[in-house]
Amino acid sequence: MRLETVTFENDAWSRAMMLGDLSQGYCHYLVAFRPGDDDAAELSGYAGLMSARGASDADIQTIAVAPDARRQGLGRLMMEALIAEAVSRGARRLFLEVRADNPGAQTLYDDLGFAPIGVRRGYYQPDDVDAVVMRLDLPAGGAA
Ligand SMILES: CC(C)(COP(=O)(O)OP(=O)(O)OC[C@H]1O[C@@H](n2cnc3c(N)ncnc32)[C@H](O)[C@@H]1OP(=O)(O)O)[C@@H](O)C(=O)NCCC(=O)NCCS
Repeated sequence: MRLETVTFENDAWSRAMMLGDLSQGYCHYLVAFRPGDDDAAELSGYAGLMSARGASDADIQTIAVAPDARRQGLGRLMMEALIAEAVSRGARRLFLEVRADNPGAQTLYDDLGFAPIGVRRGYYQPDDVDAVVMRLDLPAGGAA
């Protein structure tokens, strides 16, 4: 929650929302922490997937990397792991929303093969910022 609130200043998830996601079997979350930080007291990052087994559509729920850990490949690594997890759960399409004023994240998603498919006007409140909806078509993977 500490990383969540410093990362998403005006639209951070509440603790209840985060706990709700973490407790769902159809969600899959990763956390990253530095080697030796066995208590994971300070997370370097986290990322979450919603993908019900057997469902064809899945969603990237969130991703955050701590400011001092950015541009070292962690965001890409977590996204690749979530994409692989979605494939293994049988998803064929992966969706995400990203703030229209966040070109860095859009570049990462574009590099991973996500394509913009639409805009949700004013999706992020109270900032009144649009969301760009992006989609990645996944290969059939099944139990791969
Ligand atoms: C977006 C975010 C998760 C990226 O994490 P990261 O660990 O820094 O990303 P990576 O180091 O794996 O970057 C992979 C590539 O994405 C692109 N990229 C990432 N951040 C970028 C930035 N700020 N500006 C431009 N390109 C960027 C680059 O192409 C980068 O490759 P390069 O470093 O070789 O040029 C991180 O900046 C973050 O947590 N931002 C705040 C929260 C956020 O915006 N979350 C996304 C919500 S949709």
